[in-house]
Amino acid sequence: MENLNIPKHVAIIIDGNGRWAKEKGKSRLEGHDAGYQNIKRIGKYILKRGVKYLSIYAFSTENFKRDEAEVNHLMDIFLLMFNKDKDFFVKNNIKVVFSGRDEPLPKKVIDARNKMAKLTENNTGGVLNLCLNYGGRAEIVDATKKIIADGLKSEEITEEVFSHYLYQDLPDVDLMIRTSGELRLSNFLLWQNSYSEFYFPEKKFPDFNEEDFEEALLVYNKRDRRFGDAKK
Ligand code: IPE
Ligand code: IPE
Ligand code: MG
Repeated sequence: MENLNIPKHVAIIIDGNGRWAKEKGKSRLEGHDAGYQNIKRIGKYILKRGVKYLSIYAFSTENFKRDEAEVNHLMDIFLLMFNKDKDFFVKNNIKVVFSGRDEPLPKKVIDARNKMAKLTENNTGGVLNLCLNYGGRAEIVDATKKIIADGLKSEEITEEVFSHYLYQDLPDVDLMIRTSGELRLSNFLLWQNSYSEFYFPEKKFPDFNEEDFEEALLVYNKRDRRFGDAKK
């Protein structure tokens, strides 16, 4: 097991909280509570396992289409994470960074989010990139706007320069996991997932545990990443 090649950047699309709850006769909101508890559990494990960057898709720009009660509950979970639970991230030495737009997040979520980033900025036990009000297309549009605002000339724009203008300047994703058996990206890290390996476990996110992540690592280690090169 120790000879495994550990991906530097793992990205997870949390999916299936609602279906998990329905199966158990619980409300969708309880599904999100269970999903949040699992972000802490599996997030801590993955970073302790030696993964340097973990991106979690927690709320998409499109998720604002959901019922007001569900959106409000998810915002309350973020507030819980950034306020009451902040010591968990401090204690585990996790640096929390964020990807996503401010608008139309409630001001108290933006303020608490920024405080959390500041509080953990010097932590060295791995980076949790929380994608909150995140959209991959929005990120590319926002990067383009910043490039124009900075007055860059056409010949100065390379893929490397463009990457620096994304919400966070992180290495490309190596392993992208989406739980619950859905086989799509749903606007997640479009730029950064260009050459990632995809893994789609059937389990719904609240049940995705350490053993399941170890299985994902085994699968990842069997993949042949070629980046366009010919087979050697
Ligand atoms: C993922 O679970 C959490 C978010 C998208 C915020 P879902 O809420 O999408 O769960 P399903 O897909 O309805 O089961
Ligand atoms: C993607 O899940 C967004 C997040 C996990 C935050 P969704 O459940 O919203 O995606 P679709 O609607 O099934 O594509
Ligand atoms: Mg879903």
